[in-house]
Amino acid sequence: MVDFQPYFFHFLILLISTIFILAFFKSKNAKSHLPPSPFSLPIIGHLHLLTPNPHQAFHRLSLRYGPITAEAGAFNLSDNIWLFKKLDLQWFGKRVKDIHRRFDALIEKIIKEHEESQSQEKDLLNILLRIAEDETMDIHLTRENIKAFILNIFVAGTDNSALAPEWGLSELINHPNIMRKAVAEIDNVVGKDRLIQESDVENLPYLQAIIKETLRLHPPVPLIPRKSTEDRTVAGYHIQANTSIYINTWALGRDPNHWENPLEFMPERFEEKPMDVRGQHFEFLPFGSGRRMCPGTSLGLKMVYATFGAMIQCFEWKAGEDGNLARVDMDEGCGFNLPKANPLVCVPVARLDPIPMHVFK
Ligand code: HEM
Repeated sequence: MVDFQPYFFHFLILLISTIFILAFFKSKNAKSHLPPSPFSLPIIGHLHLLTPNPHQAFHRLSLRYGPITAEAGAFNLSDNIWLFKKLDLQWFGKRVKDIHRRFDALIEKIIKEHEESQSQEKDLLNILLRIAEDETMDIHLTRENIKAFILNIFVAGTDNSALAPEWGLSELINHPNIMRKAVAEIDNVVGKDRLIQESDVENLPYLQAIIKETLRLHPPVPLIPRKSTEDRTVAGYHIQANTSIYINTWALGRDPNHWENPLEFMPERFEEKPMDVRGQHFEFLPFGSGRRMCPGTSLGLKMVYATFGAMIQCFEWKAGEDGNLARVDMDEGCGFNLPKANPLVCVPVARLDPIPMHVFK
């Protein structure tokens, strides 16, 4: 009888080596399709490259390595580095707990006031409380749900809508010719004896262009976070499932491939090339795009147009504490949102006398 044992042994060695060789080439191949990446340090990865302003750091890296780059490490060390998981090295956890405690006390007080008041007024909180009491509803709202919803609207809706007029006014102080043109448009369309209203905005294309130009250069949310749910190929690069992805809206708005003189504040570009803000033009995404894009886009835009319009309609803004600065700095501060490094300080001088606050035609 033929003895197969030595053949079987050789076959086994051949099979295992083939599997190893294939696995080796496959991993090399997969790696070579990962987005390019700078040299990373042990443990912290690229964290040292992402400060102080992550959107500026990502932009710098993309100029060097291409529009899609891979970086390891994240803003919160404990989230990503196993060794630090239990340690709150940057005190984020402590700060979050503190903010949560303070917000909870505040919103609890407001909810109690609403519950005790007999008012029939239909404000948002009253509507939510009524839904929560309604046993017939398919979805049962808990007190926690209501608090989370209010917090979401609060956090996402207030800061962004306040940052845009601040950046816009700073730009106009530094560009007096644009300020003059904007005020002249409002005077022409609205006049001087009534306050600008939301319904005027469609007749104020230059005002709209100024706000869009402000959002292009100073998007209140400079990095939009996403997470890949499955393995995908983007622009030829392999993006693994569960990868944190940041879309740099700040860098998109400054991309010379899409914008002429990208660093210049030129509202006219939006008059020549009307462009929507609702996520259809990927070079201009101030409100994000897709299913998670800002649900407050219409409200946010209306608020910014009307408040900003009223600010320049009613006042001349003299920069500086004494109103004697010819220019203001445009340095960026740090944060999830994009604040000014030095908040804008101005002396408002009434330009309409009396200010027509009472007249709503
Ligand atoms: C100029 C004003 C505003 C700007 C520039 C802005 C921008 C953004 C951006 C870029 C996002 C992320 C979108 C994405 O992930 O694709 C976002 C999310 C969000 N915004 Fe706004 N926003 C503004 C005003 C508002 C207002 C007024 C509200 C509500 C009253 C609001 C509510 C929200 C909410 C709830 C989210 C989270 C949506 C989600 O994650 O599903 N925003 N906003």
